[in-house]
Amino acid sequence: MKTYLTRRITFSSAHRYFQKNFSDAENRKIFGKCYSEHGHGHNYVLDVTLCGEVDPLTGMVINLVDVDSILKDVTDPLDHHHLNFDVPEFQETVPTTENIAKYCFEKVAAKLPKGVSLSRARIFEADNLWADYYG
Ligand code: NI
Repeated sequence: MKTYLTRRITFSSAHRYFQKNFSDAENRKIFGKCYSEHGHGHNYVLDVTLCGEVDPLTGMVINLVDVDSILKDVTDPLDHHHLNFDVPEFQETVPTTENIAKYCFEKVAAKLPKGVSLSRARIFEADNLWADYYG
């Protein structure tokens, strides 16, 4: 019996939308205020949904202590950092909500124990904006 377990963690990061293959005018037109030179910050909310069998002895898909440890390992390099400067994956890739969801999915998925899979990484950039990545 597969069961889905969702856990949340929050972190704060700065970013700037900038594509080096675009001209200054194109960057300004496409990214608007998000192109401003020094970037701006968000309080991100990451929800990860894990899937696995419930262990009949523990009653758990995965121990929450392990989940929290994985989520902290994944988000620590983002928290209170400027994504464009401090995270190698976002030196070339625009750190949009979509791309941060994919980044978090891949980092979390790589750390999960055998028998547990990641069904979805959902990142909220604001109450009215989020991205889902399913792998
Ligand atoms: Ni932004």
